[in-house]
Amino acid sequence: MNILHLDSSALGANSVSRSLTAKMVAQLLRVEPAADVSYRDLAAMAMPAVTEELLHAMRRFPNAAEVEIAPHLLPEVTLAQELIDQLLAADTVIIGAPMYNFSIPQPLKAWIDRVVMPGRTFRYTAEGPQGLAGGKRVIVVSTRGSRMSGSPYETALDHQEAYLLAVLGFIGIKDVKFVRAEGLGMSALRDEAIAGAEAQAQQLAGEMQLAAELT
Ligand SMILES: Cc1cc2nc3c(=O)[nH]c(=O)nc-3n(C[C@H](O)[C@H](O)[C@H](O)COP(=O)(O)O)c2cc1C
Repeated sequence: MNILHLDSSALGANSVSRSLTAKMVAQLLRVEPAADVSYRDLAAMAMPAVTEELLHAMRRFPNAAEVEIAPHLLPEVTLAQELIDQLLAADTVIIGAPMYNFSIPQPLKAWIDRVVMPGRTFRYTAEGPQGLAGGKRVIVVSTRGSRMSGSPYETALDHQEAYLLAVLGFIGIKDVKFVRAEGLGMSALRDEAIAGAEAQAQQLAGEMQLAAELT
């Protein structure tokens, strides 16, 4: 198993999603001790918003031998290629994704803006867009301060899990599961939410072990 482990919370040691992604990876290592794990702390990487010149350079980079990339853009463009290679090489991706203002944290969006790349992770065909990054599973650890699932009103405000499902689907990743801890800002719900998410992580790892034993 080749695991890519991503965290994006700004809260460092106080982050629930960071603690849960670490536990999820530990569970997977119990299933497959020889698994290879790559880790990116997207919050610590502090990648800026993409600019016009950066996007232009990133899209031309696969032909870098033939085109000239401005020297000041090379480190950013090289990093974007590494992020794409790392995603494509993984068969299991664990994403720590807190809800920030109904959506995802900027560091995770900055990663998405680099890895959703025409010619690498998707392409347009006569029939429409085609994902090129399929054949892998993603487990999103979703954390939320309030309860955001249940009623149609709450679900309509979800631009975090729904968005991740959409963008991962766009690049061909259909096997997406969520480990969710919500109500973390409500003291009456917090402990139960964390325990529930830990149990979900354990159950997912158990299902993966069973699937591995059956193949
Ligand atoms: C900038 C910011 C925006 C937030 N926006 C929301 C929100 O829209 N809905 C929500 O339920 N919780 C929101 N929260 C609460 C977080 O989702 C919650 O604290 C969660 O535990 C964060 O994950 P973490 O512990 O891994 O950092 C927000 C927190 C921050 C810091």
